[in-house]
Amino acid sequence: MHEFHLLADLETLSLRAAEIFIEISRCCIISKKGFVVAVSGGSTPKRLYAILSSDQHSNKIDWEHLHFFWVDERFVPPFHEDSNYRLLRDNLLSKISIPQENIHPINTDLSSPEASAERYEDEIRKFFQLPAGLFPEFDLILLGIGEDGHTASLFPGSEVLGETEQLVTAVMDKKHEHYRITLTLPVINEAGKVIFLVSGKNKAGIVKKVLEEKDRSLPASLVKPKKGDLIFLIDKEAGSSLESE
Ligand code: 6PG
Repeated sequence: MHEFHLLADLETLSLRAAEIFIEISRCCIISKKGFVVAVSGGSTPKRLYAILSSDQHSNKIDWEHLHFFWVDERFVPPFHEDSNYRLLRDNLLSKISIPQENIHPINTDLSSPEASAERYEDEIRKFFQLPAGLFPEFDLILLGIGEDGHTASLFPGSEVLGETEQLVTAVMDKKHEHYRITLTLPVINEAGKVIFLVSGKNKAGIVKKVLEEKDRSLPASLVKPKKGDLIFLIDKEAGSSLESE
């Protein structure tokens, strides 16, 4: 199933994302006693994280049965301002009560990005009790889109886009400010639900290329859950170049 929601602004988009998040968490916790989500960094989901941890909404979520993983991370210490772990900690984790063992950050306190990727892959395999050759099924993966069409830390032209075996890989591209560690496309496409959050006028061009032109050179266009649902939450500014707008 593909869903597309055009929302008035970032606030409305974040509220809708929070409703969907809460709904999926409830369904998963009832049906399989747990909810496993992988979250992204970037500026767009910040408000969603704040809403989820607010007094008004946090009691709607059974945090005891929710596990947080990260879609990607910069190879920086956890207190660094560019750390995706820190983003979630500051905007959500520090405001709720959740068992420490339910939090699965990408450990960057290792000798190299490759070592971090390996450690994170092991952690995922252990958590999902995955035999070799199989991919985990996250209940929900939250993604954003960069102006160049990247998603997670999967960038246009990167050889990582062709990965078919590893769950996690290091992105050692000198073009970016930091080396990164990212889930690979086969993991994203195995998820139960994938939600893209896209906001702002600067995303209008790329949203059109991904959604209408279906430009396959853009990593965001390669996200197509095999069995799961793909949901686009786009605000008016980001959707302003779409034909149907
Ligand atoms: C990150 C993300 C990255 C992000 C996009 C969109 O950690 O930066 O994983 O893929 O989602 O760059 O970022 P914005 O939400 O800031 O537009």
